Amino acid sequence: MKDTLIIEGGYPLYGQVRVSGAKNAGLVLMVASIMAEGETILDNVPRIRDVEVLIKILEDLGVSTRWNEDGSLSLYSPSGGLRSKTSYELAKQLRASNLFLGALLGRQKEAAVSLPGGCDIGSRPMDLHIKGIQALGAEVSLEHGFIYARAKSPRGGRVYLDFPSVGATENIMMMAALTPGQSIIENVAKEPEIVDLANFLNSMGARIRGAGTDIIKVEGVESLRGGRYAIIPDRIEAGTFMIAAAITGGEVLVENVIPTHLHPISAKLQETGALVRETDKGILVKGIENIAPVDIKTLPYPGFPTDMQSQMVALLCLARGSSVVVENVFENRFQVVDELKRMGARIKVEGHTAVIEGVNGLLGARVKATDLRAGAALILAALAAHGSTVIEEAVHIFRGYENIEDKLRSIGAHVLR
Ligand code: EPZ
Repeated sequence: MKDTLIIEGGYPLYGQVRVSGAKNAGLVLMVASIMAEGETILDNVPRIRDVEVLIKILEDLGVSTRWNEDGSLSLYSPSGGLRSKTSYELAKQLRASNLFLGALLGRQKEAAVSLPGGCDIGSRPMDLHIKGIQALGAEVSLEHGFIYARAKSPRGGRVYLDFPSVGATENIMMMAALTPGQSIIENVAKEPEIVDLANFLNSMGARIRGAGTDIIKVEGVESLRGGRYAIIPDRIEAGTFMIAAAITGGEVLVENVIPTHLHPISAKLQETGALVRETDKGILVKGIENIAPVDIKTLPYPGFPTDMQSQMVALLCLARGSSVVVENVFENRFQVVDELKRMGARIKVEGHTAVIEGVNGLLGARVKATDLRAGAALILAALAAHGSTVIEEAVHIFRGYENIEDKLRSIGAHVLR
């Protein structure tokens, strides 16, 4: 996994940067598009590696796709039906391929998706996904690393999620949309991407209510029809650039955001002393000299997002004092700590908790991106560090951030690829 980024640190960032469409909405909406025969057009799909891999998986299933002149993505599902089994080679590159489970069960009453490989941030089990589709009548067997599911007589059901899993909520919602009868899903994820999926499915003729709250109710319908839909902006990319302004002591206007989606991030950033202001053009963030230490607990939305945890750890390395960060969503999401320590950070990890002693400055070093958000955190640390940092395996970063080096350069960062 090559691709290397070289960043010369010490330059405060100034200017404005435009956020792309949300990766975690785009991926699930691309999958959901196969539930309707005919063409679906999606606007604001970010051109990132994960989207390119998902396009290959869609094509392998029989969907034809095309990037249009206006930047939108067309997806065409043939009326004759699709293959129901994702290819292992492709699916293992993308955890989100597990979302074909609900979409294929909804449309074709059968699905075979490869059990997602272990991921750097934890085991990523599928037990809640399986519990949910079984409640709607699917019979499931696990063989040769695949989940085989078949619903001979699917019918609406009721399921309570032990944990508000984003993927499980999405899979069950998609299957329920085309399963006869009423389904009730409780203790669901409330992330903005869940609401975007429900809005998209409803625009195709589904009858889903309650997305964004703890309970989602679905009245199954016969079929869905394709249409055109614009994906929400990426709140995690926005948060990453907000921290870039704070950590470099610069001033950046982050454009194309939905402020309510950013409230957990804005609130925490303000606690560190950064100036965060909502304007009609976007969120304006101004960094300050003395970063205050803060404590963070990651939680499902609307709590502080786990996908922003590594980025905040990078910022808190330079705070005046010690901060405590507790990761409650994934069991192993502090890999970035070892890399930050190579840059002079002082962090102690005990289980789900990291204690960060702020230092006066970080030094550029050779580091490695272990996953997407850890890579983003290393970029942030490098932007503030003295000297140059070489980030290896930067391909992880390109999986989820569209044109990140151009966007960084446009606000004054010294980045080479
Ligand atoms: C989605 O992953 C996102 N990915 C992740 O973003 C994000 O970190 C995560 O939600 C939490 O917000 C996409 O949307 C493509 P979960 P997902 O199911 O659905 C446990 C990024 O950086 N769990 O909400 O896989 C699981 O082990 C990525 O953009 C079960 O125990 O997350 C984890 O500890 C990283 N059983 C916790 O729930 C299950 O059946 C949260 O997982 C399912 C999940």
